[in-house]
Amino acid sequence: PVADRVSDLLGRMTLPEKVGQMLQLNAKEGVRHLVEELHAGSILHASPERVLEAAALTEKTRLRIPLLVAEDCIHGHSFWEGATIYPTQLGMAATWDTDLVERIARATAVEVAATGVHWTFSPVLCITRDLRWGRVSETFGEDPHLIGELASAMVRGYQGEGLSDPTAILACAKHFAGYSETQGGRDASEADISRRKLRSWFLPPFERVAKEGCRTFMLGYQSMDGVPITVNDWLLGEVLRGEWGYTGTLVTDWDNVGRMVWEQKIYADYAQASAAAVRAGNDMVMTTSKFFDGAQEAVAEGTLTEAEIDAAVRRILTLKFELGLFENPRHPDSARQAEFIGSAEHAALNLEAARRSLVLLTNDGTLPLAGGLEASGEGRATGPGPRTVAVVGPNADDAQTQLGDWAGSSGQADWLPDGQPRAMIRTVLDGFRDTVPADWTVTYAPGARILDVGPDPEGEFFPDGQPRPEVVVPAAPDPALIGEAVAAAEAADHVVAVVGDRIELIGEGKSTATLELVGDQVALLDALAATGKPLVVVVISSKPLVLPPSALGAAAIVYAANPGMLGGMAVAELLLGLIEPTGRLPLSFARHAGQQPTYYNQVRGQHGTRYADLTQSPAFAFGEGLSYTTVEYTELELLTAVVEPAETVRARVTLTNSGARPALETLQVYVSDTVTSVTWAEKELKAYEQVALAPGESRQVVIELPVSACTLVDAQGRRVVEPGRFELLVGPSSRDEALLRAEFTVKG
Ligand code: IFM
Repeated sequence: PVADRVSDLLGRMTLPEKVGQMLQLNAKEGVRHLVEELHAGSILHASPERVLEAAALTEKTRLRIPLLVAEDCIHGHSFWEGATIYPTQLGMAATWDTDLVERIARATAVEVAATGVHWTFSPVLCITRDLRWGRVSETFGEDPHLIGELASAMVRGYQGEGLSDPTAILACAKHFAGYSETQGGRDASEADISRRKLRSWFLPPFERVAKEGCRTFMLGYQSMDGVPITVNDWLLGEVLRGEWGYTGTLVTDWDNVGRMVWEQKIYADYAQASAAAVRAGNDMVMTTSKFFDGAQEAVAEGTLTEAEIDAAVRRILTLKFELGLFENPRHPDSARQAEFIGSAEHAALNLEAARRSLVLLTNDGTLPLAGGLEASGEGRATGPGPRTVAVVGPNADDAQTQLGDWAGSSGQADWLPDGQPRAMIRTVLDGFRDTVPADWTVTYAPGARILDVGPDPEGEFFPDGQPRPEVVVPAAPDPALIGEAVAAAEAADHVVAVVGDRIELIGEGKSTATLELVGDQVALLDALAATGKPLVVVVISSKPLVLPPSALGAAAIVYAANPGMLGGMAVAELLLGLIEPTGRLPLSFARHAGQQPTYYNQVRGQHGTRYADLTQSPAFAFGEGLSYTTVEYTELELLTAVVEPAETVRARVTLTNSGARPALETLQVYVSDTVTSVTWAEKELKAYEQVALAPGESRQVVIELPVSACTLVDAQGRRVVEPGRFELLVGPSSRDEALLRAEFTVKG
C-alpha cells in the first residue's frame, strides 16, 4: 500500500532531503543546483529539455525520488508550440456547458501529460468582483454556483479515471481564497473581507471541488484581516482541513513564504516565515529557495519539529506514489506528443468550444449577415451573390490577444502537422477569408492601434540614473489609420469591427485603472458609425469593457472573450449564420469603470446604490445572450408549493422556439429568499439546463431544486435554510424583467 511505501521512504530521508521535497523551484533558473543542492521535490516552468536534465540528475541522487513537474495549463498547454489553446476560462464559462468543459480539461490533460508535466495550476475558482482586475479572463465569472459546476468539471477532466492513469494530471484549485476581492481591482492587494462574506460567496466553489477530489489547492498571495493566507490558521486549519476534511496537498503561490519577509514584513527572517508556513499546513513552497535553510534553522532553533515537516512530505510522496512516478516517471514522450498535441480531434473540440462561447449581446436583425448563409460542405459558405465584407479593427488579426493569457509560445506558432504556416490559429480576418462564398470579397484595415511601446510616463530614468525599460502606453491617435478603415467600410456591403483589449493588458499584475477601449478605438467606432453602414461590433477582450455609444448603438454586438486558436473562425461562422449564437454572459458588463462592482448577486437593501449621474444597472447582465431565434418562457407552475427542508421543490415551465432557426437555450433557475435574518442577495443562480429546440418546437421542462440549495450564511457564519417564503425565478437571464416567478414555502 502507498502509505507503507511512503513511511518506508520517509524513514530513510535526512532533514535536508525532507525540506527539499517541500520545494517547488523555477526550472528556468537551471536545474543542477535545485536538484543536487536543494533536493527539490518539484519544478515548474520547465522545458522538456530541462525536465529530462532534471530527471537524469535526480536519478543520481541518493534516494532517486522523482520530481513533480508543474505548469500553468489553464486553457490548454501554456507553452508547447502547436498545443491546442482553447477559449480562456471566461470563454468556457460563457458556454455554460459542464460536459464541454470537462472534455476540454480531459483533452488538455492528454496533451499536457505527453510533455512530461504532472500537475496543472488550474482551475481558477476566484469569483470576479471588480472588472478592472487583470485576471478576470482566468475566472469562470461572477457566480459561485456556475464556478463550482464548471470547476468541478475541470477537475474531473484533468484527474481522469484516477491518478494512476498516465494521462491524468493533478488539478489545483486556486487561489484559495478571496484573492479576487481586490482594492480598486489591483492584483494581490489586501483582501478586505469578513469570514462571513468569504463563506457566503468565495468558499462554496472551493468546498465543492474539495469534495470532488481535487488533489491540490494553491494559496493566494494576499492577506485577510492582516494575516497572509499562507499562515492563516482559520482558513487552512479550521475550515479546509477541519470542517471540510480536506486531505489534499497545499502549494503556496509564487514566493508566498519570502513575501512574508520582504514584502508583507510579517516575519523578520526566513526561519520564522518557514516555520509558520509549515505549521499552518503548507506542503509545497513555490520558488522560495531560502526556505531550504530557513526550515532547517527553525528545526534547530526548536520553532518547528521534524514531525511537522514529515506531515507535509508524506502528502507530497503520497502524490508521487499515486501517480506511479517511481515506476513510470512520465517523461516527455515524443510518440504521444505527435499523436495527441494539436490533433484533429482536439482541434474539433476547440472549434466547438469557441463556437459555443460567443455571446450575441444585441442584434437589430443585421445578423446573420446577408440573411444567413448555407454551409457548402466544402468549407466555404454559399451565398446570395457577390458581396464585400470590410473586416476592420485592431483585434481582427491579432492572434496573440485572441489566444489570451497563458498561451506562451502558441501565439507565435507557425506549426501545423502538414507544415502549413499558421493554420492552427484563425483570426477573425482568417475566418472570413476562409469561409465567405467564393464570389465575396473580404477587405481589411486595422483602423486603430491599441498600444504603443514608449517611455515610461512616470519618467525616463530610475533614481540611479539608469534608463527605464520602455513600457506600453495607449496608442497615439492616428487619423490616417481610421481613414483607411472608413474607406473600407464605405466600399463594403457589410462592416465588422473587431475591438477590445490587448495581451499586454491581461494577466497577473496587469490590472487596468479603466475599462474603456484603449487607444484610438472609440474614435474608430465613432467614425465607422458615422458612415451609416450597419456596423457589427465584435469584442475580443479579457473582460467586459465599457462600450461607447457608437458600439452600444451599433447594429449588433458579439462578445467573444479570448476565444482561442480557432476563435476567429467561430466568429466568422456566427456572423455569417453558419452556426447559432448560444453563449450566455458569465458576468455583467459595466456602463462605466466607476460603476464597480456590477455583479448581479449583490446584497439587497442598499438604497443609495444608484449614482446621481448613472444608473447602477449593468450594460449587460449576468446570464444574458441572444439567439437568432426567439424562445418564449410560459406557464411556470409549481408541482410542490410547500416543502420540508429535506425535500425537493418541483416546478414545470414551457419553452417555445417561436422563431425560424434552431435554439440551444440556457434555462436559468434563480431563487429569492423573500425575508432573511441577514441582508442577502436578492436572487442567486441555483441551477441551469441547456434545452435544444427546433423552430416552432415547444417543450415542458421539469425543474427539481433541493431545498438544501436554498441556503444563506447567517450572522453566526452558519450556512442554513431559513424556513418561510421563497420565489423561484425561471428565465433566460438574471434580468428581473426576463424572469417568470412562482412562490414556494419551506416549512419550519
Ligand atoms: O499558478 C500561478 C499563479 O496563478 C500566479 N502566480 C504564479 C503561479 C505559477 O506560475
